[in-house]
Amino acid sequence: MADDTGSPDEAGRGFLSKMASELFTSPLNIALLGICGFLIYKILASRRRAEPSEPKEPELPPLKKQDFTQEQLREYDGKGKDGRILIAVNGKVFDVTKGKRFYGPGGPYGLFSGRDASRALATFSLNEDSLRDEYDDLSDLNSMQMESVREWEMQFTEKYVYIGKLLKPGEQPADYTDTEDEGGDDKKQPAQKKED
Ligand code: HEM
Repeated sequence: MADDTGSPDEAGRGFLSKMASELFTSPLNIALLGICGFLIYKILASRRRAEPSEPKEPELPPLKKQDFTQEQLREYDGKGKDGRILIAVNGKVFDVTKGKRFYGPGGPYGLFSGRDASRALATFSLNEDSLRDEYDDLSDLNSMQMESVREWEMQFTEKYVYIGKLLKPGEQPADYTDTEDEGGDDKKQPAQKKED
């Protein structure tokens, strides 16, 4: 009886070579693979830098709850003297300093630090154009992109500390003295130290 199907090994090799030729014949796929490779390299490199061979840096005292204008947020890009990093997602500002291997200077997502990253995250873009200097109301995003922004917001809420709102133009900051956290996070923060 003739064997016309070939061995499973051969079938597997055929599938792999078909996949490889699909991937490497489209310039878009090649560019995407390049970007992924570069990001993986940056993430692995920042992991190596963070190996526990050196003593751990002391954690920064928690920031007191407050709202930010776009301009105020820009000051927290990790290049200040305490290295604090804040990022806004879907109108909420998070302290992401503990994720500085991602967002610190030279990190794979360093361009998000001190910025509203909502549009970039929603559109899966690492292009500077996705980071607006003016307040971004995201009104042109489609429903899938808005869903993605909300998922990122949830991910940040779980991992990082919520500090306050990103203020719309003309919006006044709330007075959080004597108030409990509200609106972004149910984690209680310890008594605040005054920072000057
Ligand atoms: C295209 C290839 C990409 C690859 C292979 C990749 C890979 C990864 C990996 C492995 C992590 C988890 C690292 C860890 O937890 O140790 C990660 C986290 C992350 N990635 Fe990517 N990524 C890619 C693209 C992007 C893009 C385009 C964006 C944004 C527009 C993005 C934003 C993020 C963010 C915000 C985190 C979370 C960091 C955190 O936990 O705070 N990634 N990525």
